[in-house]
Amino acid sequence: MNTIKIFDTTLRDGEQSPGCSMTIDEKIKVASQLDKLGVDIIEAGFAAASPGDFDAISKISEVVKNSTVCSLARALDNDIKRAGEAVSKANHKRIHTFIATSPIHMEYKLKMKPDEVIRRAVKAVEYAKTFVEDVEFSCEDAGRSEMPFLKEIISAVIEAGAGTINIPDTVGYTMPWEFGAQIKELVDFVENKAIISVHCHNDLGLATANSIQAVKNGARQVECTINGIGERAGNAALEEVVMIMKTRKDIFSDVKTNINTKEIYKTSRLITSITGIEPQPNKAIVGKNAFAHESGIHQDGVLKHRDTYEIMSAEDIGLEKNNSIVLGKHSGRHAFNDKLKELGYELSEVELNKAFERFKILADKKKEIFDEDIIAIINDEMINDNKMYELISLQLNDCSNGLASAAASVKFEDEILTDAAIGEGTIDAVFKVIDRITGYSGELISYKVDSVTQGKDALAKVTVKVIFDESKPAILGHGLNIDTMTASARAYLNALNSFLVSKDLLTNCKVSYKDKI
Ligand code: KIV
Ligand code: ZN
Repeated sequence: MNTIKIFDTTLRDGEQSPGCSMTIDEKIKVASQLDKLGVDIIEAGFAAASPGDFDAISKISEVVKNSTVCSLARALDNDIKRAGEAVSKANHKRIHTFIATSPIHMEYKLKMKPDEVIRRAVKAVEYAKTFVEDVEFSCEDAGRSEMPFLKEIISAVIEAGAGTINIPDTVGYTMPWEFGAQIKELVDFVENKAIISVHCHNDLGLATANSIQAVKNGARQVECTINGIGERAGNAALEEVVMIMKTRKDIFSDVKTNINTKEIYKTSRLITSITGIEPQPNKAIVGKNAFAHESGIHQDGVLKHRDTYEIMSAEDIGLEKNNSIVLGKHSGRHAFNDKLKELGYELSEVELNKAFERFKILADKKKEIFDEDIIAIINDEMINDNKMYELISLQLNDCSNGLASAAASVKFEDEILTDAAIGEGTIDAVFKVIDRITGYSGELISYKVDSVTQGKDALAKVTVKVIFDESKPAILGHGLNIDTMTASARAYLNALNSFLVSKDLLTNCKVSYKDKI
């Protein structure tokens, strides 16, 4: 059996995609979950990109137990040094350095001659080896690079000490048969001196197909992301690549992965909660409809014999097939904890108490509590555990006869701050009262409401994007509540809390309390 290493780049290539940026705390949570999922390598970020990226990689290196922690670095001394320092505390560490190898990239982007590119690559690998034993080298835009040049640079960097050679289809251009042939030729060429890895983008919808074709042709590492997030159209989706090899064991009888597939659904939900980007409903493996049978003929077939229309089981990815009502308002702490364990969550005493409190409040208002409700509560608690400002209460007057008004109480450092504001609509009033209380003025860039389950009493999940400082990118915030306005207020405060944590209390957008609106 050959092990196909799964290299997850959700925290690097995934985080690069619009709307997917994460706070340091969120990245740590994702990394811990990826470790549990069993990925072999976690690309935790690009250390030289920003102090925030560097800190996130350093902290991840301290918490991840089993997976190798990796930082990306351009083939530049400073990038490599920062990458080496950031991963220094990891149990298993890797530096991933890269340079473009296609004629178009070398001529127009790098403005370098091929010989110079080879020299830079060799120097980068040699320098990376002074920090870590495990060095990966990527030939950026390999899909459009010329084979003789690829072979030349690959020989040189293997000689310099690279143990993994990554072949990215950076622009998602190649066809599966072209990519498969390219990988076969390179696997034969390196003759076990290095592992050939692949990294496919989805611009033509072929990222998974190309990755799988590469495995069939000898690639032994696949780079991918949860839910397929990533630059432009995204990267190959981890869940697809892994479940293809598991489901088509007849074809992939000689390979295996170290992924615990039962953790796939939970990991996918965590990424969705943090980024606010829900996979399309018909997304393979993790989309809402991936295991739903709508047509009568299909339902009838599945009831008679599951294999008629199901090629894999929902349980394999950790999704309970019968999403039955599990708990209600009479359920105690013990039953709640049992349910959490069944769903794969192990919480500390403090976390359990907080989650149980949320569950009890919800159970008082909502007749049926589904597994999704519980998963949403846990993810919300995980995301919101860094509260500086915490919503205590919210009262509204709607705007049916004119202006809307909102009164709110917010806890800040053991003090309860209360105020009221008017707005053009209810949301406007809610966000304005928070601005008055906190003294920060946010510009709302986007606002989205999703329901966690079906039913009029479903939990509302609100995602906002807010700019608190014009010189900084927009910050995502999430809020969950049975009441949409309360969820909105929580989401707005969550964005503010994230802003304050990540920017070390920047004060240039702070306005003094009550001097505006
Ligand atoms: O797509 C790409 O080429 C990359 C490299 C940095 C590996 O992300
Ligand atoms: Zn990429």
